[in-house]
Amino acid sequence: MTDTDAAASWRALDAAGEAAAQRSIAGLFEAEPDRASRLTFEAAGLVLDLSKQPWSQADVGTMLDLARASGVEAARAALFAGEVVNRSEGRPALHMALRAPEGAGFAAAGVPVSGEVETTRAKMKAFAGEVRSGARRGATGRPFKAIVHIGIGGSDLGPRLIWEALRPLEPALDLRFVANVDPAELAQALTGLDPAETLVVTVSKTFTTLETLTNAEAARAWLRAALGEASDSHLVAVSAAPDKARGFGVPEDQVFAFWDWVGGRYSLWSAVGLSCAVALGWEAFEALHAGAAAMDVHFRDAALDANLPVLLALAHVFNRNGLGRPIRAVVPYAQRLRLLPPFLQQLEMESNGKRVTADGRPVPRPTAASVFGDAGTNGQHAFFQLLHQGTDVIPVDIVAVRQGSEGDPAAQRKLLANAVAQAEALMVGRAMPDDAQRDFPGNRPSSFLLLDRLIPQALGALIALYEHKTFVEGVLWGINSFDQWGVELGKTLAARILEDLEGAAQNPHDPSTQALIERLR
Ligand code: F6P
Repeated sequence: MTDTDAAASWRALDAAGEAAAQRSIAGLFEAEPDRASRLTFEAAGLVLDLSKQPWSQADVGTMLDLARASGVEAARAALFAGEVVNRSEGRPALHMALRAPEGAGFAAAGVPVSGEVETTRAKMKAFAGEVRSGARRGATGRPFKAIVHIGIGGSDLGPRLIWEALRPLEPALDLRFVANVDPAELAQALTGLDPAETLVVTVSKTFTTLETLTNAEAARAWLRAALGEASDSHLVAVSAAPDKARGFGVPEDQVFAFWDWVGGRYSLWSAVGLSCAVALGWEAFEALHAGAAAMDVHFRDAALDANLPVLLALAHVFNRNGLGRPIRAVVPYAQRLRLLPPFLQQLEMESNGKRVTADGRPVPRPTAASVFGDAGTNGQHAFFQLLHQGTDVIPVDIVAVRQGSEGDPAAQRKLLANAVAQAEALMVGRAMPDDAQRDFPGNRPSSFLLLDRLIPQALGALIALYEHKTFVEGVLWGINSFDQWGVELGKTLAARILEDLEGAAQNPHDPSTQALIERLR
């Protein structure tokens, strides 16, 4: 693999994209009769149909050449070997170690980590069991009935998605989430809860995040107002800075650590998932891990041409770079997966929303697409008009679940019929030469991901699929998918503007910003 090979592969992609822009996806099925089966892949319980993407089978070969020339195989090996793949922060990215079966033997930059991971997992399992059984009780001796999970970004989106996807209809423990520093969210979350029966789980990798600390302080005050100092036994913390959590007043045995080699948006597998492990039960959390671990093994071992994360990344990059499409929609046809789009927004846009390579040179081509979406069928009644007849072509990832978790199978069939129909309508369209308003151009690509049932294993595999897909894209673009320097400037400026609003300082600003500050003051 050389830079020259990679450059030639990008040129081949440009040419393939130009050709793809001139032809119809539906037409490819005539030229390639085995297309549907050749471009449908299965692993770790997931089925991925990429046949409605705009690539020909020859184009898939071009994309696989690009993957090889870009060093995907070596990068994948480095990731699993615990090498320092996050160079700007000098860290490995080893979320796979968190969900690997016991005895996996992962090492981060040469230092064994699986032992520590297993010890923390055992502590989480014991804690979850004690809370659920009532062996661990609150300050007044009553069992816990509710958990308030406080965290933001990666310390929120993954656990929120898992809970929404897997929560029982009548959960033994109520689990509520608070992310925003807008006090309205905490107020809503605390409404109706009894402090004597509530655990407050503060989750922050750094334990310095403004939103999370503000909410954690307010929740601690809420507990103390009702229960006094003894209420600190209701505090739980999850952090890679456990000293800071202890300093906050969290009892030693309720501080759960994780490590700097776990990126925030890849952290739900660590103790960041503790609230879910307690509220869903340990078995479900373990099964989630098992599903992700199965996808890890597949990603690590499967040849590139049968590798789901690699192929999904290549399909997305074909659209992004071959066809210049800057937006992608994600539409899960499962109400329980309605939080998949916001989860993927952070995973993909924080990981790959970069304009310089890992060694600081400008990336010569567009990187991450913007991601948006909502559950189907709801999205059909909101933004699908634009997907079908708008001026931009927006590729869609459709995620469907064959067998529903609950409710009427007839309604589930209607849901699935819509999922399949939308993919068909997007690609085939409907020519109405005499009625421009009713004409559907078609030729709009989609991927179709099918889960058999929305069980923890399948959800774990689905999330791990997108994690690795995001990594592969980062490798193709030559960027570091594991840092997020772009979120820092806003944080710094917010701290200065807070001083201005509170009258503690008069910092200089541009005239527009200054006017807004004055209006608010
Ligand atoms: O938004 C920036 C970010 O650093 C995310 O990457 C992270 O998931 C989130 O803030 C929360 O950070 P922490 O877990 O340290 O509170």
